[in-house]
Amino acid sequence: MRQTEPDVYRPDPAIAASSHVPDADSLREQALADPVGFWADRAEELEWFQKWDTVLDDSEAPFYKWFTGGRTNIVHNCIDRHLTGPNKNKLAFIWMGENGRDHLTFSYFSLNRQVNMMANIIKSMGVVKGDRVTIYLPRIPEVLFAMLACAKIGAVHSVIFAGFSADALASRIDDSESKLVITADGSWVNGKVFPLKDIVDQAVRFSPTVENVIVVRRTHNEVEMDALRDHWYDDLKALPIAKGKCPTEPMDAEDPLFILYTSGSTGKPKAILHTHGGYMVGTYSTLKYTFDIRPEDRWWCTADPGWITGHSYLVYGPTLNGATSFMFEGGPTYPYPNRWWQLIEHYGITSFYTAPTAIRSLMRFGDAWPNRHDLSSLRLLGSVGEPINPEAWQWFHRVVGKGQCPIMDTWWQTETGMFQITQVPGEVQKPGSAGKPFFGQDVEILNEEGEPVSDGDEGFLVLKNPAPAMLRTLYKDDQRYIDTYWSKYPGKYLTGDSARSDSDGYIWIIGRTDDVIKVSGHRLGTAEVESALVSHPAVSEAAAIGLPHEVKGNAIHAYVVLRVGYEPGQELGESLRQHVSQHLSPIAKPDDVQFVDKLPKTRSGKIMRRVLKARAQGLDEGDLSTLDD
Ligand code: WT7
Repeated sequence: MRQTEPDVYRPDPAIAASSHVPDADSLREQALADPVGFWADRAEELEWFQKWDTVLDDSEAPFYKWFTGGRTNIVHNCIDRHLTGPNKNKLAFIWMGENGRDHLTFSYFSLNRQVNMMANIIKSMGVVKGDRVTIYLPRIPEVLFAMLACAKIGAVHSVIFAGFSADALASRIDDSESKLVITADGSWVNGKVFPLKDIVDQAVRFSPTVENVIVVRRTHNEVEMDALRDHWYDDLKALPIAKGKCPTEPMDAEDPLFILYTSGSTGKPKAILHTHGGYMVGTYSTLKYTFDIRPEDRWWCTADPGWITGHSYLVYGPTLNGATSFMFEGGPTYPYPNRWWQLIEHYGITSFYTAPTAIRSLMRFGDAWPNRHDLSSLRLLGSVGEPINPEAWQWFHRVVGKGQCPIMDTWWQTETGMFQITQVPGEVQKPGSAGKPFFGQDVEILNEEGEPVSDGDEGFLVLKNPAPAMLRTLYKDDQRYIDTYWSKYPGKYLTGDSARSDSDGYIWIIGRTDDVIKVSGHRLGTAEVESALVSHPAVSEAAAIGLPHEVKGNAIHAYVVLRVGYEPGQELGESLRQHVSQHLSPIAKPDDVQFVDKLPKTRSGKIMRRVLKARAQGLDEGDLSTLDD
C-alpha cells in the first residue's frame, strides 16, 4: 500500500476492483440520493416469508419502522436458507478453547442441528415467542446456539457479558423479566476458573421471574444445583424432547430480536431493542461491503458475544453472509503474547477485526511476537470501540498487515446495531479517521445551537437519517428513548460523541460528550461506578471520571467522600477498587481512588465531573460560575 502524503495511504487499486464495491464514491452518492431504495435492494438479497409493504415507515418518528408487513426470521437467513444450497457443508464456525486442545467445527448443517436442539430445549421450558431469555455464557459454542435458538423460536435474548457481577446480572434479569437463564459451570480466564454458576445463583436467589437455569458444563468445577430449577445442558440434550427439527417461527419484520443492556448517563443501564427485519438487513450488508466477505474468507471478530460487536459481527452478520467465522475462548496474551498471531497463522485467518486497546496492549510486547508467525493469509484488518490512535494504526498496518491490508476503522454503537461510519476496502486510508458514513447514511457535526460547524471544528455528531438496524426504542422506556437520542436536535439522532470532519469528508471521532467512559473499548457509565462505590459502607459520596490511559484509552479515577468514622488510607482505597470490581465488573475497577473532603458540585447538587477532570490533568477548569462555592 502506498503512502502518498503524510498519513494518507492509497491501497492498491486491485483491492477495490475485485471487491463488492469497486467504486465507493459513486455508490455513496447513489445510495444517499435514495437510501430507501438502497436498503430495499439489500433486503431483496435475503429471503422473506412475505415481502414488505413499506420499506421505511416514518409516520410515528422517531419510532421508525422498517420493512413493515414483511415476514421473516433472522435465523431463516442465518441458517435455514444455507441448508439447501452450496453452504450446507461449509464451515459456519471454527472454535478453539483457551487450553489450545479443545477444538470444534460446525458446518451450517451441524450448526442447524445444534440450534434445533437448544431451541427444542428452551421451548420445553415454556418459553414462547416474545419471552425474554438471559444468556450468561463464556465464549463457547453454546453461546452461539443459545442466541440463534432464541431467535429461531421468537424469544428475545438478553446476553450479559460473563464478567458482570451478580448485582449487575440480577438487575438485568429482573428488568427483562427473564423466565430462563442459560449459563455454564464456569469460564476459563487465563488458566483459572471464573465461577459463573455461583454468580448466577447469587443473582437469581431473589428473582421473581426465573423458573429455570440451564447449565453448560465447561470447567467441571463443583457447583450447586437446585433440583427443581437447575438443569445440566448435557442431561437435557439426552432427552427425547431435544431431538428433531424445531420450526423457525415466522416473525414480523418489526418483532423484537434481542435486547442488550448498555451504559448511559444515569445509573440504570438502558436496554437497547433490536428487531428481526431491519437489523438483519443492516448487519448483513454492512459486513458484506465493509469487509468484502468472500466464500474463501476466514473471518475473526475477537469481540465477546456479550457486546453488540459480538452480536452483529460474530453471530448474525457472518452467518447471514454464509461466512466462516473463528471464535476463540481465550484472550490475546495467555499463555504468551503471541496467542492471536499463532491462531491467525494456524487457521489462515483472512480478515481480523479487533479493538484499539488490544492492539495497543500487544504492541507493547514488541514486533518479535507477531514476526514469529506467518500472517500472510490476512487481507483485511478492522478496528472498533474507540478512536484508534495513529501509532497503533501504523503498527497494526505495518507489523500485523505487513503494509498490505487496509484497516477498516468502523464507528458505530450498541444503538446503531451496524457500522455507521467506515471505509470500504480500496478507499483512501487516513489513520485515526473512521472514514465516511456508510452507504445511505448521512451525518452532521453540530454546535450547541444545532448549526453545522466548519470543517476541522469539533461538534456534536448526529445521524441525519434513520437506518434499518438502528434501535427501535429502549425496552420498556419509550420516553427515555426520545429524551436521550431525539431531543437535543429534533429529527436528528444524537450519538453522544464529539467529532470533526475534514475537507475530504472524513470523520474524526474525538470521544464521548456525556457521562459515558470507554475503558478498553467497553462502555461504562460514571453513575454506575459511583453507585457501586456508594454501596460500600465507608462511602458517603463518589464521583468517577475517565482519564487518558496509554493502553486502555481511558482509565477510571474515583473521588470519594468518606462517612464519618472512616479514615482514608491505601488499604481502604484498595478495598474500594475491589468492591467496584465485584459489585459491577472487573472492567469498571478504578485505577485510582482519591479521598476528598468535598466534591465540586453545581448549586443544584450535580457533580461537576469536568472540573475534576480538568484539575486531574492540570487543565483550565473552564466556566466555574455554576460551582457551589
Ligand atoms: C461508542 C459506542 C459498536 C461497537 C462497540 C462499541 C465509541 C465505537 C468507534 C470507532 C471511535 C468509536 C464511540 C461510540 N466508538 N467505535 N471506530 N472510533 N470511537 O459500542 O459500547 O455501544 O460504544 O464507542 O464513542 O459512541 P458501544
